[in-house]
Amino acid sequence: MSGANIPVLAVDGPSGSGKGTVGQQCALALGWHFLDSGAVYRALAYLIRINDININNLEDVLDRARHMDFECRPAPPDAPEIWLDGRLAAAELRGEEIGKQASQLAARPAVRSVLLDLQRTARKPPGLVADGRDMGTVVFPDATLKIFLTASVKERARRRYNQLKLKGFDVSLAGLFQAIQDRDTRDSERNVSPLAAAEDAVTIDSSDLSIDEVVTRILDLINNRLAIEGIDINGQ
Ligand code: DC
Repeated sequence: MSGANIPVLAVDGPSGSGKGTVGQQCALALGWHFLDSGAVYRALAYLIRINDININNLEDVLDRARHMDFECRPAPPDAPEIWLDGRLAAAELRGEEIGKQASQLAARPAVRSVLLDLQRTARKPPGLVADGRDMGTVVFPDATLKIFLTASVKERARRRYNQLKLKGFDVSLAGLFQAIQDRDTRDSERNVSPLAAAEDAVTIDSSDLSIDEVVTRILDLINNRLAIEGIDINGQ
């Protein structure tokens, strides 16, 4: 099966829309691989920090990005396991500060271009669920199904607050509301690969839906699409 024939379910959306949780559950239900592309940018931000690389020194940043050994394994109900250079990197990738630096790195075209191949190598049989901001628009424009998952800023701040509190982070709801709004603006207004729904994406607003309801809706859509396209994921 050639790369282009391997089905991809792209789940894009803003921070806190639930795409990570939903994406992992879809990947497990389908028996597919999973890519948390936000973790790719977070991992680079983390590696830059621990290696004392100046975030403004583009050559050093790109060099680190080119040599990144990254693996993502679903680990619901939480965030996926991220393996960096063969080592499990967990909580250190999830804080708001790393998220902010990831968003700054993600605004640089050269960084995005270096990380493109790394993300595309995650497309392996029998299929891939990829979550992020530009999975359906740039990284996998030929995805089998594109979902744009969203929710109100208030609801997303509330979810992120509960998530971080559970992990022991000391955060304020008002601070998160502001941080999410700022991050939305930066991710949506950047020139390269801005956060936007692909023209052919199905938009789902999860503000008033449970995770299970969203997952069921997406699985129905992807199973229909696979049937229409005659893709038998068990027959490869
Ligand atoms: O989804 P997240 O919060 O883990 O993503 C961290 C940052 O990485 C986010 O602010 C924007 C950026 N990002 C991106 O630009 N493109 C992606 N496909 C995924 C994340």
